[in-house]
Amino acid sequence: MLDFDDIQHFLMSRPPARAARYEFLSFRSGVGGRAWLTGLIDKVGTAGAVGSSLLDARWVTVGFTWNGLQTLGVAEASLANFPEEFRQGMAARAGVLGTAGANHPDHWVGGLASPNLHAIVVLFARDVAERERCRGEHGRYVAQCGGVEVLSSLDLEAIPPFDYAHEHFGYRDRLSQPVIEGTGMEPTPGSGPPIKPGEFFLGYPDEEGPAAALPQPEILSRNGSYVAYLRMQEHVGAFRDFLRAHGETPEQQELIAAKLMGRWRSGAPLVLAPDKDDPKLGADSQRSNDFNYAKMDPHGYGCPLGAHIRRMNPRDTATNMNRRKMIRRGGTYGPPLPEGVPDDGIERGIAAFVGCASLVRQFEFAMNVWTNDPNFHELGNERDPIFGTQDGTFDMTIPKRPIRKKIIGLPAFTTIRGGAYFFLPGIKALRYLGPLRDGV
Ligand code: HEM
Repeated sequence: MLDFDDIQHFLMSRPPARAARYEFLSFRSGVGGRAWLTGLIDKVGTAGAVGSSLLDARWVTVGFTWNGLQTLGVAEASLANFPEEFRQGMAARAGVLGTAGANHPDHWVGGLASPNLHAIVVLFARDVAERERCRGEHGRYVAQCGGVEVLSSLDLEAIPPFDYAHEHFGYRDRLSQPVIEGTGMEPTPGSGPPIKPGEFFLGYPDEEGPAAALPQPEILSRNGSYVAYLRMQEHVGAFRDFLRAHGETPEQQELIAAKLMGRWRSGAPLVLAPDKDDPKLGADSQRSNDFNYAKMDPHGYGCPLGAHIRRMNPRDTATNMNRRKMIRRGGTYGPPLPEGVPDDGIERGIAAFVGCASLVRQFEFAMNVWTNDPNFHELGNERDPIFGTQDGTFDMTIPKRPIRKKIIGLPAFTTIRGGAYFFLPGIKALRYLGPLRDGV
């Protein structure tokens, strides 16, 4: 039922990429933007093509901001059909998202908060050499197109050792993700049934019923998705200092790290391994999601109510969960900070995308309620300890018998350095956009 030849591969599959590059583009004119797009369409990976050839070495995705669609020449009547939050763009939604203080768009880098941001091209590459080859090729192509300017770019590389995905704090990542009905993938135990495709791709039945109304013309929106991009700096030195300040022994420090996340750095979930790490469990995809909260850990003695994974997917302790699922994509940037070395001040972090069919229902809800509402789960004065907007005034409760532990005044371990909303059109939509004309 899913149109694999039209849907961009991005949210459907995760290619084996160890390097990436994101380029943020501005079109000086509609003509320039359309010329750039037309020459690139054949390089964009479809869900059907990606993974079908052993020779795959790089995977290309393109997306547009609402301003970008406007500059490409999409008619005003059609632009008005797109949802309000997408039209406004991420920077204008700071109030809803809770991106205040150091996370506020006033401090964002790379032109991401600028109305001149029109498009993104995401390149995932098998390795750094292939990324560099593509960087040169795209640079030459942009120069030849004329009316396109690269506002900024970001190079990403996986952190060694490469045998498991992890981020700069050292947590194993990519453990839990929704499975989309119709892709043929089987959910791992505990992950719930496959989610209807309309939760991620426009034009398909969703968890509510038949396909929701599409922005018109249909050719532009069908098989498209929205993605929220976030560049999140990780303060590794501050994170390690915090663990040392709150744990006397390495074992206690590991436990504090696990309580913040809800999983040990090995990936083992606290619900299943509350007292001691179990690296074999963390590495076992058939077991590492096989848990719930309401029945197995209602008071949070294993996984605190405010831990990152319990907030971002409250599982059986929240309603309407199938309508709030998000697909996460992205990678790490910046050099890893070796253990025992003081912070070198170099920016490092995660630059990631959250993919969905409704930014407001899925991504913005997660930011507004799960991440930054201090009273989520009636916690009173807490935000997501890993990713919430922290300024030293919010706490973290670690339920424990006989006396719970409360960490007062959590520091910020991450800072949002930028973000944007993009629409990832299907391939037919890209072909529709290419021949548009200004003011028609
Ligand atoms: C620097 C910021 C972040 C870090 C270091 C981080 C790290 C992690 C890690 C290590 C996991 C566990 C692995 C897994 O379950 O797949 C995880 C899970 C998750 N994160 Fe984040 N994350 C960050 C930001 C975000 C953001 C911005 C969102 C979405 C708005 C998000 C949503 C999720 C979700 C949905 C899960 C899966 C929870 C589950 O299903 O149990 N995270 N994160």
